[in-house]
Amino acid sequence: MPEPKLLLRGARVVDPASGRDEVADVRVERGRITAVGAGLDPAGAEVMDCDGLVLAPGLVDLHTHLREPGFDHKETIETGTRAAALGGFTAVAPMANTDPVTDNAAVVHEVRDLGAQAGLCDVFPVGAITKGLEGESLAEIGEMVAAGVRVFSDDGRCVPSARVLRNALTYARAFEDVVLAEHCEDASLAEGGQMHEGYHSYSLGLRGQPSEAEEIVVARDLAVARLTGGRIHLCHLSSARSVELVRRAKAEGIRVTAEVTPHHLTFTDDDLVTYDTNFKVNPPLRTADDRDGLRAGVADGTIDVIATDHAPHAVEEKEAEFDGSPPGTIGLETALAAVLTELVEPGIVPLARVIDAMSPLPARILGAAGHGGPIEPGRPANLVVFDPAAEWTVEVPFASRSRNSAFLGRTLRGRVVHTVLRGALTVANGKPTR
Ligand code: NCD
Ligand code: ZN
Repeated sequence: MPEPKLLLRGARVVDPASGRDEVADVRVERGRITAVGAGLDPAGAEVMDCDGLVLAPGLVDLHTHLREPGFDHKETIETGTRAAALGGFTAVAPMANTDPVTDNAAVVHEVRDLGAQAGLCDVFPVGAITKGLEGESLAEIGEMVAAGVRVFSDDGRCVPSARVLRNALTYARAFEDVVLAEHCEDASLAEGGQMHEGYHSYSLGLRGQPSEAEEIVVARDLAVARLTGGRIHLCHLSSARSVELVRRAKAEGIRVTAEVTPHHLTFTDDDLVTYDTNFKVNPPLRTADDRDGLRAGVADGTIDVIATDHAPHAVEEKEAEFDGSPPGTIGLETALAAVLTELVEPGIVPLARVIDAMSPLPARILGAAGHGGPIEPGRPANLVVFDPAAEWTVEVPFASRSRNSAFLGRTLRGRVVHTVLRGALTVANGKPTR
């Protein structure tokens, strides 16, 4: 692939890793940033005028479902990483709930190789914690660490027993920088739940699952992290009380990080009144108080990371009856715009905090050393350029193979213009280049 010299001229450079927030030019050559500053020499470079645009480190998604191998009628690594590039991502971490499950090094290599072949986004596979996601014996964690995996998760399912989680956290401590990411859901309380349990579940006649299904496991996991000294990451928190538990645990020095999705920052259980299955997600959308608690958690850094939980499902799957349709919304193509619209535009969270939550922090957790900035000479050129003022309405077609977006029909503010992966444009002027 040709790697032209690029001069990204006159953008507002927002780089949380260096603290830079100023208008500057950025020059890119042979895959790397070679200069950052005012009035750089354009000689020999393709000049992209970025006046009025924001330039930031390429986004990093810590929680993505790319579905391959096994479910390529929902998504493939190629279609999913194209959606990611369009959303401004330069790295994604696909979850292990594929078929076969990513519970050994062979599947890790397969997923990573398919990502490299597509060449649209760096792919950092997440390994399973337990074999086959069965929650019993540990997966080939050591072998996967040797293959470069840093994040392990049984996402889609919770590690069912504190004992198994204790063993996994104790084992993982032997490896530097390894983190276990938990989908916090007590199966006995959540079972059969179609949405958040509360006023709306009663009035809609849908079976609910209470916030406590999440909070009980958050509390348990924090206790097991304290016991073992291991590192835990809590996926897609949905309840304000979960955020409070994490806040206290951090104050106590427990090694925990946490994540929230753009859809949990935007919607509430009130949105399910249309029975639109695109709002059926796991964990469920909860109350406005929960959403506000999640927003406050992002604002004060209790919630470290914003991750998409991009969960593609085929049209016929999502068109089934509410009870029979699988949970999940796609999110890669709308994540940045959703967060800019819901958090930055109304002044709830500053832009630099949002970028930090979508790039440097997830890059650090993932061990994705070439991502997340700083935007400085010598660093790999993984960058996003977006227009913070552009308004657009979310509609089909998507680059994703699926179209189950909770954001369909919504008008958002903020749009990705260019995405640069190791010096090459994967998206130019809002269009994929390949
Ligand atoms: C995820 C999926 O479809 O794989 N769905 C979802 O609603 N988040 C699995 C999961 O995390 O429950
Ligand atoms: Zn999950």
